Amino acid sequence: MTQDELKQMVATAAVQEILAILPPQSLIGMGTGSTVNYLIDALQTHASYFRGVVSSSDKTSQLLQERGFKVLDANQVTSLPLYIDGADEIDPHGNMIKGGGGALTREKIVASLADQFICICDATKLVNVLGVFPLPVEVIPMASAQIQRFLESIGGNVELRKTKTDLNQNFVTDNQAWILDVKGLVIDQPLALETQLNQLPGVICNGVFAVQSADTLLVTLNDKVQTIHFRKDKNN
Ligand code: A5P
Repeated sequence: MTQDELKQMVATAAVQEILAILPPQSLIGMGTGSTVNYLIDALQTHASYFRGVVSSSDKTSQLLQERGFKVLDANQVTSLPLYIDGADEIDPHGNMIKGGGGALTREKIVASLADQFICICDATKLVNVLGVFPLPVEVIPMASAQIQRFLESIGGNVELRKTKTDLNQNFVTDNQAWILDVKGLVIDQPLALETQLNQLPGVICNGVFAVQSADTLLVTLNDKVQTIHFRKDKNN
């Protein structure tokens, strides 16, 4: 199976999981990325099952609206029973790197509103230690150079993200900010790194999801969808 077929397979399985967990007219938080796009397609026949969806990006909002879902602003809700999203990497404790698509800040905001986080991905995202995938750090543009120097001082190899179509153009997030992609970090203490990076002036958000780690993982392994529940007292 191709990676896209594996993403589609886990997205289809996620529909049954969501409908089993949530009663009709629930709210749900929706992530961003190709796996989530497959999920939105697979879930569209159930669009009226949901009272509303809080979205983590302009792209996801647009797709949700096209598929008939009611999109709510995060400020309109006080909590969500469930947030569902993909990941760029996930470790054996449910800690993740996210933000490959540039939506990390809004993803973390919506995830923080949710009682539980279900991660959906294919097995290529499974790692023992986070850090092979470059860690995205969203920054206020005027602080990008000093944040880059700090990231280099802790062993990172930093690149300012460019658009895919024009390498002279900086990638600009939904929040009108820039992204530094950091290679070369061995993230064996994700909670500590997430906390440390959050302290830097000008950092809007970093792509380590340890505070908002996954509670459950649906993953396509050996062409089958497997479900993993992470322990709540997981070791970060
Ligand atoms: C978006 O910014 C990311 O956090 C995505 O959730 C992550 O990159 C997974 O994307 P795919 O589902 O496209 O692999």
